Amino acid sequence: MIRFVVIGHRATTSGDFKLDDITGGAGRLDVLIRCINSSFFLSHDIRRDVELYLVLQGPPFAPKTIRLVGSELRYLNPDERSTAALIRNALMQKVESEINSTPGIYVSNRSYRDVLSLLSKEGKLIYLNEDGDDIVEFDFPDDPVFVLSDDRDLTEEEEEMLLKYEPDAISLGPISYHADHCITIVNNMLDRTYRLH
Ligand SMILES: C[S@@+](CC[C@H](N)C(=O)[O-])C[C@H]1O[C@@H](n2cnc3c(N)ncnc32)[C@H](O)[C@@H]1O
Repeated sequence: MIRFVVIGHRATTSGDFKLDDITGGAGRLDVLIRCINSSFFLSHDIRRDVELYLVLQGPPFAPKTIRLVGSELRYLNPDERSTAALIRNALMQKVESEINSTPGIYVSNRSYRDVLSLLSKEGKLIYLNEDGDDIVEFDFPDDPVFVLSDDRDLTEEEEEMLLKYEPDAISLGPISYHADHCITIVNNMLDRTYRLH
């Protein structure tokens, strides 16, 4: 399984937002929705070997984590508005432990710390960072878990939390890319190496 974790530093944790306002009132939810597209969409298919964790840290009910499972996803379309509606639906659920909102979409009260702890047991954590080792030379481990940030870098505290797991730090090059573009590049690298094995 290939996993991506994206932190939405100010992404809303309430379903009470307007679909016309995902870039503003919903705390740059648009950035995370584009990460959904990059994680799963192929031209005529869905990547079934990918799982995406979106860690929402905005008001009013932070933290919340939306987990999307490629092998189970239904009703996902490439337009941002309909995906925002699926996320809104997930955020409207009353959550104690993780629950299934729509096919392939789960919501929980997990924090970034919880997600790192959980996924460190499932695979190798990989910190996507401009200063890391070049991805071109990287030998992907089994079950890689790529951790990246939204349109802001990880805070010092978030970085410290991640570094405790001694992740590999991998760079896609010296230029800073949008989070969704990073996922596309990583998926492409995986297509040409890891997924061939
Ligand atoms: C838009 S960037 C974050 C903010 C950006 N560093 C800035 O200058 O404001 C989103 C995330 O993508 C990842 N990222 C961006 N460019 C990268 C690169 N060249 N190599 C590895 N990761 C990258 C990092 O995890 C980063 O936190």
